[in-house]
Amino acid sequence: MEDLLKLKGKNVVVMGVANERSLAWGVAKSLFEIGANVIFTYRKERSLVKLEKALESNGLEAKMIVQCDVNEDESIQHAFTLIGETLGTIHGLVHSVAFAHAEDLKNDFVETTRSGYAFAQDTSSYSLIATAREARRYMTEGASIITMSYLGAERVLDGYNVMGVAKAALEASVRYLANDLGKEAIRVNAISAGAVRTLSAKGVPSFNTILGQIGEKAPLKRNITNEEVAKMSIVMLSDLSSGVTGEIIYVDGGYHIMG
Ligand SMILES: NC(=O)c1ccc[n+]([C@@H]2O[C@H](COP(=O)([O-])OP(=O)(O)OC[C@H]3O[C@@H](n4cnc5c(N)ncnc54)[C@H](OP(=O)(O)O)[C@@H]3O)[C@@H](O)[C@H]2O)c1
Repeated sequence: MEDLLKLKGKNVVVMGVANERSLAWGVAKSLFEIGANVIFTYRKERSLVKLEKALESNGLEAKMIVQCDVNEDESIQHAFTLIGETLGTIHGLVHSVAFAHAEDLKNDFVETTRSGYAFAQDTSSYSLIATAREARRYMTEGASIITMSYLGAERVLDGYNVMGVAKAALEASVRYLANDLGKEAIRVNAISAGAVRTLSAKGVPSFNTILGQIGEKAPLKRNITNEEVAKMSIVMLSDLSSGVTGEIIYVDGGYHIMG
């Protein structure tokens, strides 16, 4: 199986572990299992502490851990230069980062402020473009970039608001990036994950209702797990998906197909 995946000993950067519930942590654990070198970026010191604890309690060792705030170009440049110059090549990138102001999720969408809109876009969508640009310099052997999206990109989901618009931009960015970077054998795809209880999910006021609706209505009649997102992430990062780019892959128990 490892031969099929072609990820053993490869350098994969994982962005967005806040704690052991994070989708990015699930992906990282699977990457460790298949023998990839995992490089983490974090923003808050609190996340670094949680990450170090998670690594220790699972007996895992990161190849590198680097700070990176995606709201700052300099921080992204610094992080990827450090990773690239230390390791030489980057083979994979997991962009699992998003943020919006709480009031923009609580209020009616029509009340979204100019600054709240820009902030959600900057953090949750533009950050993919900026990180892909910096990582690309070291993706000299071809690579796979994945990001995490959500159904709110294309449907109105109560309380998802400005984040839905940011995810729509993120999914469009996936397609434009896939077109730009395809000639360098760099693939770019998004995983549209079903609802998983994480720290970020706490910020979506209607999250419990969403979980209930998916459990009832999805063809699989249940919610999906962090591990299921991780498994599909491995497919999309690995050679198993070598012919796929610019796609939005749903890991949602089939919920998005329902009328
Ligand atoms: N959970 C779900 O139901 C679900 C469903 C579909 C898609 N997603 C998407 O999956 C991704 C990961 O979210 P999650 O649910 O796993 O939540 P999470 O554990 O809270 O992870 C979110 C991560 O984003 C990071 N982040 C926010 N602003 C940042 C910035 N300026 N610079 C760098 N990092 C920043 C956070 O880092 P700090 O804490 O250090 O700031 C945190 O590690 C997000 O894109 C989310 O929209 C989640």
